[in-house]
Amino acid sequence: MKPSFIHNVLATSALLGSHVLAATITDPSQLKVLTYDYVIVGAGNAGLVVANRLTENSNVTVLVLEAGVSDEGVVSVMAPFLGTTVTPNTPFDWNYTVAPQVGLDNRSFPYPRGRLLGGCSSANYLLHQYAPNDDWNRLANVTGDPNWAWDNMSKYVQRHEDFVAPSDGHDPTGQFIPALHSTTGEVPVSLPVFNQSIDARVIATTKQLAEFPFNEDTSMIQQALGTGWVQSTMSKGVRRSSSNTYLADANTRPNLTVVINAMVVKLLSTASPSGIPAFQSVVFTDGRSTSGTPTFTVQATKEVILSAGSIGTPQILQLSGIGNSADLTPLNIPVLVNSPMVGRNLIDHTLLPNMFSVKGNDSYDDTLRDPVQLQNAINQWATNKTGFISNNLINHYGFARVNSSLITIPDPSSGPNSPHFEMLFVNFWLDPAVSVPSTGNFLTIVTVLLTPTSRGTVTIRSTNPFDAPLIDPHMLTTDFDVTAMRESVKAIKRFAAAPAWSDYVIGPFGNLSATADADIDAYVRQHSTTIFHPTGTASMTSKNSTNGVVNPDFTVKGTSGLRIVDLSVLPFIPASHPQGPVYLLAERAADIIKGVVAQ
Ligand SMILES: Cc1cc2nc3c(=O)[nH]c(=O)nc-3n(C[C@H](O)[C@H](O)[C@H](O)COP(=O)(O)OP(=O)(O)OC[C@H]3O[C@@H](n4cnc5c(N)ncnc54)[C@H](O)[C@@H]3O)c2cc1C
Ligand SMILES: *[C@@H]1O[C@H](CO)[C@@H](O)[C@H](O)[C@H]1NC(C)=O
Ligand SMILES: *[C@@H]1O[C@H](CO)[C@@H](O)[C@H](O)[C@H]1NC(C)=O
Ligand SMILES: *[C@@H]1O[C@H](CO)[C@@H](O)[C@H](O)[C@H]1NC(C)=O
Ligand SMILES: *[C@@H]1O[C@H](CO)[C@@H](O)[C@H](O)[C@H]1NC(C)=O
Ligand SMILES: *[C@@H]1O[C@H](CO)[C@@H](O)[C@H](O)[C@H]1NC(C)=O
Ligand SMILES: *[C@@H]1O[C@H](CO)[C@@H](O)[C@H](O)[C@H]1NC(C)=O
Ligand SMILES: *[C@@H]1O[C@H](CO)[C@@H](O)[C@H](O)[C@H]1NC(C)=O
Ligand SMILES: *[C@@H]1O[C@H](CO)[C@@H](O)[C@H](O)[C@H]1NC(C)=O
Ligand SMILES: *[C@@H]1O[C@H](CO)[C@@H](O)[C@H](O)[C@H]1NC(C)=O
Ligand SMILES: *[C@@H]1O[C@H](CO)[C@@H](O)[C@H](O)[C@H]1NC(C)=O
Ligand SMILES: *[C@@H]1O[C@H](CO)[C@@H](O)[C@H](O)[C@H]1NC(C)=O
Ligand SMILES: *[C@@H]1O[C@H](CO)[C@@H](O)[C@H](O)[C@H]1NC(C)=O
Repeated sequence: MKPSFIHNVLATSALLGSHVLAATITDPSQLKVLTYDYVIVGAGNAGLVVANRLTENSNVTVLVLEAGVSDEGVVSVMAPFLGTTVTPNTPFDWNYTVAPQVGLDNRSFPYPRGRLLGGCSSANYLLHQYAPNDDWNRLANVTGDPNWAWDNMSKYVQRHEDFVAPSDGHDPTGQFIPALHSTTGEVPVSLPVFNQSIDARVIATTKQLAEFPFNEDTSMIQQALGTGWVQSTMSKGVRRSSSNTYLADANTRPNLTVVINAMVVKLLSTASPSGIPAFQSVVFTDGRSTSGTPTFTVQATKEVILSAGSIGTPQILQLSGIGNSADLTPLNIPVLVNSPMVGRNLIDHTLLPNMFSVKGNDSYDDTLRDPVQLQNAINQWATNKTGFISNNLINHYGFARVNSSLITIPDPSSGPNSPHFEMLFVNFWLDPAVSVPSTGNFLTIVTVLLTPTSRGTVTIRSTNPFDAPLIDPHMLTTDFDVTAMRESVKAIKRFAAAPAWSDYVIGPFGNLSATADADIDAYVRQHSTTIFHPTGTASMTSKNSTNGVVNPDFTVKGTSGLRIVDLSVLPFIPASHPQGPVYLLAERAADIIKGVVAQ
């Protein structure tokens, strides 16, 4: 399947000297010091938060090992609108694909993961929010640790977020609630900076249809449901990732060492005074290699912190003999720690691109089809960071619930104010699997299942760390999930039938025209894919539970000297875009590791 968002981008020129990677070692064989207090595996979204916070104390030494490359000066990474071109199947991607999905007509598709400084925070689409309050309250409940409740997590917004004025200079009054936000944190967050021709129609719909109320602040800090203006990790027309914020601010500290092109292949069991297996030794190789040799070994005197993400973390655990014996024994990997849930409980949000044909030439389709216009827009961005390339892909999204009369299982959402599905309003044809037709103008309303009940797996196929694991999110394999997707399709058709669209929308494109439930379900299975949010493969449970991988303090059950800090630890997928939750959980992890909050 040909990924198709925008074909014509020249993403190779290095234009930005946005941060200098003074402490970054690019060749793993050049690493001279082989013992550190902490070794962090993965310079991704979460890993660089922890690296920054731990090295605030100059007496603490930290090594970060990242398999991928630098993000510095990469146009496709830095230009907000070009987020869809960073992956899949680029030098910045792990290039995974999913197993054929039985719930999706046995289709397989790319499963991108950022393989560069910042990890997925350098490859994502910049949308930023914090999950519904009740998602955190539910986490407190299931882990038995009240510190995870929203009232206790909200303080990390102050430390993480730096809400900035939109760079186009417009007055954002009414597009967000300033009192909810922080201007003192690390990562700039901005409202849209370029108006799109559908903006007024989206806002008008929230006034015309009571079913789709306006939400004045989509961060979910105060309210999760409703439609409003997106908030994005960007400032001055440039993406902000954990790399050009948390790492850039810590990079000159002598006690932080970051190695890129350093791929971790396993952890080694080390002597443990407590008798509980310790894993404080990390084996890595050159990430540009395909043979995996030579290898290098470093020691953590205090802890190893795995931040390799929801695919990389279970893969490394399994390669190290920490996992489900049913997965390890067939590969002749000695089971050092029998941890049955490693790689299980994979949860992802299902994405469905729904297209409507529209009148006129106001959508971006003609511009995106024309290499000259697109290059001019990119050149403008390169010159002064203005124009639509300086803005995110979309300006609005909305969050809604499935009518409770249709839910025949215990409600999978975290509470009555938490959404089941999302709608993203896109001013052009946006389908990761199908290229835009050569003519026509389109409105895409993407819908996303936020509370899936399907569960999948990540399992290594061999002892070779270069073999991609088998990734099976097992999408749409429950009645609830199919019902919720069907309802999302019906909902966006009602949305597009509001008076605000009557002189614009011509009608549904392709099989979106289906009206019978069975036909909508068939359409859903034909076109659904991922919005790239794998979660839960090293899930957190209460300290006394063995039905999980980590404890509420991120320590790995059955081990010592080892924690996991990334999205793999959340036992339920956030009912929002997940990078905000990742930032908050990483800030909390750093506090716990530093001992500044009680455990
Ligand atoms: C295309 C795309 C679009 C997205 N859009 C959004 C969005 O708009 N908003 C949003 O909130 N979320 C979005 N997400 C999801 C979000 O970015 C991720 O859920 C989140 O960043 C994950 O953070 P993490 O720290 O768990 O993992 P990551 O950020 O993936 O970090 C893992 C790091 O570990 C490294 N690593 C892995 N294995 C090894 C190894 N063996 N050795 C060394 N290093 C290793 C990786 O290269 C990576 O740098 C998107 C994701 C993708 C892929
Ligand atoms: C660092 O160590 C020195 C010497 O032990 C000590 O005096 C100092 O207080 C420490 N600094 C911090 C921030 O812990
Ligand atoms: C992913 O594919 C791209 C394009 O073929 C390639 O440059 C890159 O090296 C691949 N990444 C990995 C991890 O193999
Ligand atoms: C998908 O594959 C499974 C197993 O191979 C098969 O039983 C099923 O019929 C297939 N479904 C479709 C829709 O092709
Ligand atoms: C947490 O558990 C309590 C007691 O079981 C329950 O009343 C409450 O609704 C739960 N909250 C969430 C968000 O699950
Ligand atoms: C384990 O802890 C959880 C959360 O505190 C609690 O609900 C549960 O009853 C405990 N289970 C046992 C067996 O002690
Ligand atoms: C959680 O936050 C509330 C409100 O700020 C506070 O009263 C309470 O002590 C906190 N609980 C814990 C366990 O820290
Ligand atoms: C964009 O739209 C917003 C909200 O409608 C408005 O405040 C702003 O002035 C507009 N900007 C431009 C450049 O038209
Ligand atoms: C940590 O910093 C001290 C001086 O502040 C220096 O002596 C030491 O070499 C540094 N260690 C590392 C691993 O960078
Ligand atoms: C749209 O653009 C095309 C080519 O640029 C032009 O031929 C056509 O007339 C335009 N249509 C409208 C409705 O403006
Ligand atoms: C940015 O550059 C474009 C042309 O490339 C120009 O039209 C625009 O006025 C410039 N904007 C600013 C704010 O300088
Ligand atoms: C939910 O469905 C019931 C039964 O079909 C209907 O009466 C009710 O109006 C619906 N509620 C909403 C909010 O749409
Ligand atoms: C539309 O649905 C029909 C019947 O299920 C199917 O044969 C056709 O391939 C679908 N079209 C697309 C573009 O998926």
